[in-house]
Amino acid sequence: MALPHSFATIIISFFLLNLHHHHAESTRPPYSCDSSSNSPYYSFCNTKLPITKRAQDLVSRLTLDEKLAQLVNTAPAIPRLGIPSYQWWSEALHGVADAGFGIRFNGTIKSATSFPQVILTAASFDPNLWYQISKTIGREARAVYNAGQATGMTFWAPNINVFRDPRWGRGQETAGEDPLMNAKYGVAYVRGLQGDSFEGGKLAERLQASACCKHFTAYDLDQWKGLDRFVFDARVTSQDLADTYQPPFQSCIEQGRASGIMCAYNRVNGVPNCADFNLLTKTARQQWKFDGYITSDCGAVSIIHEKQGYAKTAEDAIADVFRAGMDVECGDYITKHAKSAVFQKKLPISQIDRALQNLFSIRIRLGLFDGNPTKLPFGTIGPNEVCSKQSLQLALEAARDGIVLLKNTNSLLPLPKTNPTIALIGPNANASSKVFLGNYYGRPCNLVTLLQGFEGYAKTVYHPGCDDGPQCAYAQIEEAVEVAKKVDYVVLVMGLDQSQERESHDREYLGLPGKQEELIKSVARAAKRPVVVVLLCGGPVDITSAKFDDKVGGILWAGYPGELGGVALAQVVFGDHNPGGKLPITWYPKDFIKVPMTDMRMRADPASGYPGRTYRFYTGPKVYEFGYGLSYTKYSYKLLSLSHSTLHINQSSTHLMTQNSETIRYKLVSELAEETCQTMLLSIALGVTNRGNLAGKHPVLLFVRQGKVRNINNGNPVKQLVGFQSVKVNAGETVQVGFELSPCEHLSVANEAGSMVIEEGSYLFIVGDQEYPIEVTV
Ligand SMILES: *[C@@H]1O[C@H](CO)[C@@H](O)[C@H](O)[C@H]1NC(C)=O
Ligand SMILES: *[C@@H]1O[C@H](CO)[C@@H](O)[C@H](O)[C@H]1NC(C)=O
Ligand SMILES: *[C@@H]1O[C@H](CO)[C@@H](O)[C@H](O)[C@H]1NC(C)=O
Repeated sequence: MALPHSFATIIISFFLLNLHHHHAESTRPPYSCDSSSNSPYYSFCNTKLPITKRAQDLVSRLTLDEKLAQLVNTAPAIPRLGIPSYQWWSEALHGVADAGFGIRFNGTIKSATSFPQVILTAASFDPNLWYQISKTIGREARAVYNAGQATGMTFWAPNINVFRDPRWGRGQETAGEDPLMNAKYGVAYVRGLQGDSFEGGKLAERLQASACCKHFTAYDLDQWKGLDRFVFDARVTSQDLADTYQPPFQSCIEQGRASGIMCAYNRVNGVPNCADFNLLTKTARQQWKFDGYITSDCGAVSIIHEKQGYAKTAEDAIADVFRAGMDVECGDYITKHAKSAVFQKKLPISQIDRALQNLFSIRIRLGLFDGNPTKLPFGTIGPNEVCSKQSLQLALEAARDGIVLLKNTNSLLPLPKTNPTIALIGPNANASSKVFLGNYYGRPCNLVTLLQGFEGYAKTVYHPGCDDGPQCAYAQIEEAVEVAKKVDYVVLVMGLDQSQERESHDREYLGLPGKQEELIKSVARAAKRPVVVVLLCGGPVDITSAKFDDKVGGILWAGYPGELGGVALAQVVFGDHNPGGKLPITWYPKDFIKVPMTDMRMRADPASGYPGRTYRFYTGPKVYEFGYGLSYTKYSYKLLSLSHSTLHINQSSTHLMTQNSETIRYKLVSELAEETCQTMLLSIALGVTNRGNLAGKHPVLLFVRQGKVRNINNGNPVKQLVGFQSVKVNAGETVQVGFELSPCEHLSVANEAGSMVIEEGSYLFIVGDQEYPIEVTV
C-alpha cells in the first residue's frame, strides 16, 4: 500500500498547524514613562534626547541605596520614579526559554518554538539559517514581553566558547570546535536576536532583544574529575588566545554589535575573568569598542573571594569586578556587601555610576522607557507570532539541515517508503522532550517524538533496549533481539542525554555508555538486514565498532534535534530529505581521555606526546573528521577562477625568524594598513555539481593550509577553515559559489607572542579533495 508519503505529509501538517489557542487575560508589560504618571516630565523619558543623556539623567536621580540595589540581576522597582523592576537574566539558547527568571509561560503564551540544540544547527554550516532562527527567537521573545509575561529582555546567549575538548558537558550549546564557526554563529545570532539585518549595520540604537556573548573567556571545563569551573585556573598561551579563544568574542562584539557580554567563572592565567581589567575594559571596551553591559556568570563574584581566594574579602572582590569593568552581578553578593565596600572606600561611586549608565542605556535601547510599548517599533508583535507555522517550519528545517549521515553502506538509506515494518530500538528510541531539547530549553509548542515521526511512514514497533535510559547499565538485549528478528528494518536510537553530558558535568568516557555497544552488536547480528544507528548526543562518541561493523549499514548523528526532530529524522530516514549536515567537531577515539581536560593548549607537543586539539592541531587518530558528512547524492567541485596564483605583500617591513635552521620571512598584520588588507582581497569561484539524482542542500567548506607545514612545531595549524556556504543544488545541476578572502585575516597565523603574521611561502586552498595553490612573497 502506497500510503506512507501522503499520510506522512498530513501528519506533519497536523503538527505544524496544531498551534495553541490564545485566550487568558493579558497582563500589562512593565514599562516606564507612562503618560498617565508624572514620569514623562523626567528627561530620561524624553525620546528626543540621546540615550546617553537619558541614562545620565536617570542615574543622577538615584540615591546610593537605590543605585546599589540595581547592580544585581533582580533589579527592584523604583516606584517614586515610575520605574518597574527588571530581570537581567533570561535565556534563549535555542528558543525562548524559562530557564532564567525573566520569562514566564503562565499567561496567554504557554510555549515557544524549540529549535534544535545549537551543535546540530551548527552542522548546517548555514549562517543565514542561524540568523533566521535567532530573528524568530527575538520576535517570539518580544511577543512574550508584549503579552506581559517577561520582566526582562536581556538574553544570555549565544554561547561561543570553542568546543575544545570532546568531554565538555556544555559543548552541545556551542557551534563546535572551530573559532571561525563560533564567530559567524555569534554574529548571526546577535544580529537576528537584536533586530539587525543579516549583513549587519542597520541596527541603530533600538534593540528588539539584547544578546550576550558568553562566557568571556577560555571557559570550556565544567566539572571534570572533581575539579570545577569555579576554581579552575585555565593556563592559556598568548598564541592560543589570539587565534582560538578570543576571535569568536571579537567578532561577536565588533561585527555582531552585541549589547551584552558575560564574564566567565574561571580564571585565566591566575586572574578571575570578572576581575580582569585587561579583558573587560582594555580588550572589550577599548580595543573592540564594546558599548553594552557586562554581567557576571551566576555567582561568579562571590567565588573570587570564597573559592578562588583571589580577593581577601568580599568587599575586595566587589571592588575588583567594578574596577575591571563588570556592570551587573548575577547573584546577590553585591546586595550583601556593596555598601560596606563603599564605606571602606574600596568601591568608588564613579564606578557604580558607570555601571548604572551601561545598564540603563540597555533598558532604554530596549524601548522600556518610552511609554506604552504597544506604540513602539517592536510593540505590535503579538502572540500569533509565537509557535507560528513559519517558526515551526524553520525548526524542522534546522533539524533536517543539521543531521549528519556518517555511514551508508550499499545505500541502505533511505529506507523504502513501501510500508515496511520497522523496529525502533534503543534508549533514545522514544526519547522525551528532555532528550530532544538538550539544555536551556523552554516549553515546546508541540513536540513530535521519533516514534510519532516514524509512524507517519511505517508500521513501527518500539523497544527501549535499556531499562535505565542512555546510561544503559541494565539492558534487555534478548528481548530487543527478538523484536529485531521480526521486522524488515531495524533503527537503533542510541547516544547520550543530559544525565551523561550537561552543565556542571563533563564526561569521563567517550564511548557509548553502559551496554549500548553490546545492544547494537547483538541486535545487528539478529536483524534480517544491516541496521541503522541513530545517535542523539551533543558531544562526540567513539563508535568505531559500529563504523566497522558490516551489520551496521547506516549511521546518522542528530545532535539534540529540537521539537520537530522526530519529523526531521523520519524524513531523512525515508528519503523525503537528503541529508547534508557536516560534523562541527572532531570525533576522537576513546583513549583521548588520557589527555588531561585541564590542559588548555591547542597545539600538539610531540616531545611530551600531547596530541593537540581539534582538527586544526590534533595529530592523533580520529573516528570522524571535522567537516565529515555524506549525503544521498555525490557532489564534485571545480575551480572556475582564482584571482591570484601569486601574491606579493610589499608594504611595511619584513621580519625574519629562524626555525630548524631555516629562515622564514613574514609580515606583522598589525603593521599592514587596513587599506592594504582591503586591496589584497583574493576571490575564488567554484562550481559545485550534484552528480546524484536527488536535490540537496550542500555546505561547501573552504580550508587553507601551508604548502609545507614546516612551522608545525611552532604551532601553525594543520589546516584552517576560512569560509563556508550552504548551497541548494538540484540533481545534475552545477551551482557557482564564490569566496572573498583577505590575506590579513585568512592567510595569517598567530605567533607565539600572540600577534597575527603572514608568512612567506606556498599555501593551498582546499575544497573537498581539490587543492588550489597560491604563492605568497613578502
Ligand atoms: C506568572 O508567574 C509570575 C512569576 O512567578 C507571577 O508573578 C505572575 O503573577 C504569574 N502570572 C499568572 C497569570 O499566573
Ligand atoms: C513514548 O513516550 C511518550 C511520551 O514520553 C509516552 O506517552 C508513550 O507512551 C511512549 N510510547 C511507548 C510505546 O512507550
Ligand atoms: C606594491 O605592490 C603594488 C601592487 O602589487 C604596486 O602597485 C606597488 O607599486 C608596489 N610598491 C612597491 C613599493 O613596490
